This record gives sequence, C-alpha cells and structure tokens, in this order.
Amino acid sequence: MQDRNLIGGEWRTAHSRETFPVHDAATGELLANVPRCGASEAKDAIDAATAALRGWSGVSPTERAVFLTSIAQALRERRTQLAEIITAECGKPLDEAQGEVDYGADYFLSAADEANRLQSETIKSRRPDRAMIAIPEPVGVVAAITPWNFPLAMLARKTAPALAVGCTQVVKPAELTPLTALAYGQLLIDVGLPAGVVNVITGDPAVIGQAWLGDGRVRKLSFTGSTAVGRLLMKLAADQVVRLSLELGGHAPFIVFSDADIPTAVAAAVNGKFRVAGQTCVCPNRFIVANEVYDEFVSKFAASASSLKIGRGRDAGVRVGPLIDDRAVTRIRNQIQDAVARGATIVTGGTTVPVEGCLDRFFAPTVLANATSDMLCFREETFGPLAPVATFQTEAQAIEIANATPYGLASYVFSSDSARIERITRQLNYGIVGVNTGVISDAYAPFGGRGWSGFGREGGRWGIEEYISWKYVCASVNA
Ligand code: SIN
Repeated sequence: MQDRNLIGGEWRTAHSRETFPVHDAATGELLANVPRCGASEAKDAIDAATAALRGWSGVSPTERAVFLTSIAQALRERRTQLAEIITAECGKPLDEAQGEVDYGADYFLSAADEANRLQSETIKSRRPDRAMIAIPEPVGVVAAITPWNFPLAMLARKTAPALAVGCTQVVKPAELTPLTALAYGQLLIDVGLPAGVVNVITGDPAVIGQAWLGDGRVRKLSFTGSTAVGRLLMKLAADQVVRLSLELGGHAPFIVFSDADIPTAVAAAVNGKFRVAGQTCVCPNRFIVANEVYDEFVSKFAASASSLKIGRGRDAGVRVGPLIDDRAVTRIRNQIQDAVARGATIVTGGTTVPVEGCLDRFFAPTVLANATSDMLCFREETFGPLAPVATFQTEAQAIEIANATPYGLASYVFSSDSARIERITRQLNYGIVGVNTGVISDAYAPFGGRGWSGFGREGGRWGIEEYISWKYVCASVNA
C-alpha cells in the first residue's frame, strides 16, 4: 500500500517526517501512517504543478483524451484492489466500492469525450470590421480537496476535467481516507502521466487549504465537503480571487404522491437512503409522503430497511457498513432522541448493532414515523441511516415542506402523473431532481447544488467548463 505523498512524480515524506495514522473504519485497526504535510509541502506541490503546467497545457486535447481513456481503463483493471482500500478506510460495502471505481472511471471517459470536443469558437460579428473568436484556455494550476465518503470518485470527478482542459493539479484527500488517493496517484504514474501534472499530499486541511488559497499561483479550488468548511474556503479564496466550485451539504426531500408506484418508491428509498450507510450529500434526508399512502409506504419501507444485512463492508451480502466515526453515531442518536421527544415513533432501528470484532459504529437502518418539520432531523443534514417520514395533504404543502431549507442539492419525486411530475420538478428549488428513482449520480450529468449546497457543476461538459478560462479575441478587419 502506498503511504507516501506524490509531488513532482516522486514519492515523498513530510519534511518533518511526521505522520498520522489511518484506521480501518470497521475495526479501528491501523492500516498505515501517512505524511502529515503542512504549508511547505503544500508549496512544493504548487511548485511541481506550476513547473508541469506549460508542458501539459501544450499537449493537444486529443492526446490528453488518450491519457484520460487509459486512466479509465487502468481504474477498471485495478477495480478490486482499489475497492478493497476504499472499503477498508471508509467502511462501505465492497460492491458499492467497486461501483465507485466504475463511477470514477466514467468521469475520465466523459472528460475524454469533452477533450476531443474542445475547440476555439468563431463568433459571428454584427460588424463587418470585426473578426471574433473565443479560445478555451486552462484556468492554470488548480486544487482539489476531497471527502471521505467517495475517496476515489470525488478525486476522479475533479482530476478528469482539469486534465482534459490542460490544467495541472494539487490534491488533498480527506484525512480519514488518504490511502485510496495515494493508490490513485500510483495509478496515474503507472499510466505515464507526466511528473507534476497531479500531486497528492496528505495532512492538515486548514494549513494546506490556507497555503494553497493564499499562494496566488493556484487559480481554482474544487471542494466537496461540509457547508461550514465551504464558507471558510470562500473567505480564504477572496484575497487571491481564486475561482471556486463548492459541492456542500444537502438536505434532500423525497416526495411520494398518492399516485406513485409504492414498490418502486420503497425500493428507491432503500437504495438512495442506505447507500454508504446514508453518508452521501444526495441521500434522501426527509421523506414526505401523501397521507393516502403513508401507512403502506412506512410499513413497506421499514420492512425492507430492517432486512438489510449490517456488517463489515468486506463481508458477502452486507448492505450497511459502519459510520465513519463516533461523532456520526452521536449525531444520529441526538436526532432520534429529539424526534421521539417531539412525537415521532421508531418503526425500525434506532440503535447501533454489535458486529463481532468491530467498533460500535454500525447503526441499524432507522425509519421514524410521524416526523414533523420542527424536528432536528427535518432541519439538519443527517449523514446517516435515519429516515424520518412526514405526511402531507396537498401538492402545495409537499412543495412548501420540500423547499423549506437553505440547502438545494438533490430532491426526489415519485408519481405516475407526468403533468404533476413536470409541475413539481419546476417548483423544486434544487440543482438535481430524481424522478421515480433514488439514485441520480452519473458522470455525464451536471452534478451540483444551489444555496447552501454550493455552486459549480461536476460531470459532462458542465464539469469541463469550470476549468476553462475563455479568451475572447477581437480583431479589426479592414472592411
Ligand atoms: C457526495 O455525496 O458528495 C456525492 C454523491 C454522488 O456523487 O453520488
């Protein structure tokens, strides 16, 4: 397992030789010690990315597309090995981890398509004495700070478009899951990506983030993580006027109308809610169900949730792994306690369950009935396997409850009436709407939010746009 940092094509320790431990999310067992880098290594990484910029941005988009395609291929070839690392450090079930590697590979394939399409555009002038073109140039050296819940796919989502456009990159993975990122760095070296094009360092997020945003040579930062950290980064980015993409918290509503196909809605609720043990920004957080089908939905949802196998991600058939840390367990306990005190009923779950040889971090999929908007779980993102279900009478009420949040990432609607779906989709104040599905992630689509969920899009041509600095050239032509 790679346990050093990648700077300028070399594997390095921290200057101080200090390290920090990385643990197995299920057992707490030590997996490795990785460098505790700070400001000076952050600067080394920028130096390397800056030195590589001229060369990489000079490679033709078609050639860059060939690199991107071989990265996708290498990811698929190392699927098993990478998935095992993801499962060990982040805890998710092995088949979800394998799906994550495929998801990551898709970002490279999508970016390769876009690299092949990159070209200058001629602008039709209204004046005969002018010729105008727009040239897509790379933003420059870009930074990525990635989360622990998708240790590979979020890196791929940020590296692939940057490389497609000709940017070079400095990357800092989450402290809880750096080993996937280091294995990914090794893969990039193995496919022959030139030294310094992508640099991966591990360490203190505040120190590294500050060093990158204060340097002046880093021209963009893409961050996936909490809204609180996103706000901080916005402030730090102001001095050097660094461009940002922020994918922050979510608080997704999941609306089920009385005309919905209930088995479909239940299957989608289970798949969407309990993926990564509920620890994704797009997991449904608030279930809002028409009163005519409320009892049926709640009982079928609870039955299905309680049948999910809980255990270590590496064990066969497991659908729900551990939560990432003890704070996550406490947060869910607090939300349940608050909800019950305000009148909610626990239909299934509500506690952690013991798993032999493991930490007490396995929370049973929990369904709460009689949820209301005043409950903590209806006001704050849960990031765990807790599903509170409220009811509504009218379409207007459903929309009002769904939109009563400053967050605006994902939302879900279930109905068999196409006119209603169209109406509701228009009114939902969210960047993403899932219609009769609970899983919306796709590397070819514009992933991103509104309001407190951040701004910028990742995936497809929209993701590429974030790394382009358009140069407009206006030439005088003798009429
Ligand atoms: C996230 O939780 O930040 C990403 C979820 C996804 O891409 O599916």
